Amino acid sequence: MTHDIIFRNARLFIGDGSEPFSGDIAVDGDRISEIGDLGEARAKQEIDLEGKALAPGFIDVHTHDDGILLTETGMFPKISQGVTTVIAGNCGISLAPLTLQTAPPPPFTLVGGQENFRFESMADYVGELENNGILTNAALLVGHTTLRQRVMQSTDGAASPDETALMQEQLEKAIAEGAFGLSTGLDYPPAVGSSTDEVKILAEATARLGGPYVTHTRNYFEKLEEAIEEAIDIADYSGGKLVISHHQATGRANHGKSVPTLKRIDEAREHLDIAMDVYPYAASSTVLRLERCDTGLRILVTWSDPHPEMARRELADIAKEWQCTEREAGLRLLPAGAVYFQLDEQDVQTILKHPRTMIGSDGLPHDRHPHPRLWGTFPRVLGHYARDLGLFTLQAAVFRMTGLPAQEFGFIDRGLLKPGYFADLVVFDPDTVLDRATFEDPEQPAAGIERVFVNGVSVWEGGHATGARPGSILKPRPIAQGRRIGGTSCAVCDELYKAS
Ligand code: ZN
Ligand code: CU
Repeated sequence: MTHDIIFRNARLFIGDGSEPFSGDIAVDGDRISEIGDLGEARAKQEIDLEGKALAPGFIDVHTHDDGILLTETGMFPKISQGVTTVIAGNCGISLAPLTLQTAPPPPFTLVGGQENFRFESMADYVGELENNGILTNAALLVGHTTLRQRVMQSTDGAASPDETALMQEQLEKAIAEGAFGLSTGLDYPPAVGSSTDEVKILAEATARLGGPYVTHTRNYFEKLEEAIEEAIDIADYSGGKLVISHHQATGRANHGKSVPTLKRIDEAREHLDIAMDVYPYAASSTVLRLERCDTGLRILVTWSDPHPEMARRELADIAKEWQCTEREAGLRLLPAGAVYFQLDEQDVQTILKHPRTMIGSDGLPHDRHPHPRLWGTFPRVLGHYARDLGLFTLQAAVFRMTGLPAQEFGFIDRGLLKPGYFADLVVFDPDTVLDRATFEDPEQPAAGIERVFVNGVSVWEGGHATGARPGSILKPRPIAQGRRIGGTSCAVCDELYKAS
C-alpha cells in the first residue's frame, strides 16, 4: 500500500515521557497509520528527517487566542513554535457569548477590541471559526467574567441566585454549542466581587458536562495560598477537574512559596483531580494595573491606547519624563498593558519540574510589544530548560507539552505518536531548538522548529506558514458525575517526579 506521507530516519519522541528511539512513521489522511521500520513501504511524499526529532504537536494549554484564531496570520507565533492545539478563553475572558456596544474595558482587551465582541452565542463563534478554517486545533473555554458581563446589571458584587442561574444557562448552552469548559479570572475586575458560591455552581455544571474548571485564582500576591485553597474548595464541590492557570508566587514577599503551594496541591490531589500550567519566564504580563504602580516593581509598558509611543518603555522612566508618580502616569496610559518583573527564577524552575505541570504560554497576541512568551515558550522549555540547564530530559519536556496535557484535558487520539492518533506533528532539531524572542525584541520566531503538521496537513515549513487551515474545534467528553481521578492516575509523571 502507498501511504500519504512517510517520515524516515526520525528520532521519535512518543509524547509519554519515554526514551526517544530511531524509526519511521507513516501518515494517511489526518491520522498516524504506522510507526517502526517502514523500509519497504512507499508513500506519495517521503521525508528524510536525517535523525531530527519528531514529536506530537505541542498543546498550548493557556492562551488568549480567541480573537486571533479568526485572523489569517495571528497564529504564526504559535505554529512557529510547533504548537498544533491551543486552549483559548482563559482567565475568565472568552469572546463568546458576548456582544459589546462600546470599546471593551480591561481585561476584555486581552482578546482584542470591540470588533471582536460580536458573537451572541458560542455557536456563532464556532461557526465562524469552522467556516473560515483555523490554523491549529482549538478547545474553547467559556469565561466566567464574560458570563458576568453578559447577564449582570452591575458586575461590582456577587451574582444573585437569579443571575447565577442565568449564567449557568448560558454556560450549558455554550458547552452544548462547542465550548470545552469553564475559566475564571477571579483576580480581575469585574470578577473580583464574585462569590465562591457562584463559581461553585458554574464549576459543578461544567463538571457534569465533562469539562474542566480552569482558574486564574483570586490572588497571586498577598493571598496566594488562600486563593489556592478557594480553587481546591471549588474543585471539591464540583467533582470535576481543576486546572490552576500559570501557577506562580508573585512579588518579593512570596518568593520561595512555590514549595508550600505545590505541597498543598499534591495533598489535595490525593482525592481531587488537579493539574496546573506554567510559562517559563520569571516575569508576568497582563493589563496595566494601577495597584502595582509605585511599589518599587520594574514595569515595562507593552501597549497603551492613548500613548502608543510609550510601548517598550519602563513605567518609571515615563513617570520621570512626565514628572508625576507611576500611578498618575499609569492612569494617563490606560487602557494599557505591561510586563512585571516580579517572579523568582527558583520558583519558576520548581513549578516547571512538578509532575503535573503542563506548559501554557499565556501569550498576549494583541499587545504591541508582547511578553516574549507569546513567541518563545515551547522552544524555551525544550532548549533552555531541558537541554541547556538540564532541569529535566528532553522527553520529559515534550511530555509536558503533549501527552500530559492531552491526558489532563481528555483529548482522545491526540498528544502521542501512536497509530490511529491524529497526525499533529512537529519536527525539530534537538541541538538548536531555542527561543529567540526577548523582552527587548519579542516578536522573533524560535530556532530549530523545522516542520509542523496539523491533522496530517503541513502548516509550517522552512520558516514560513503554508497557508493551510486544517485545525478543528475540540469538544469535551461527558463523564459520569462525581468521577474523580486521584493523583496516581499517571504512572509516567509520577515516575518522572520521583526521578527528578
Ligand atoms: Zn491569567
Ligand atoms: Cu491568561
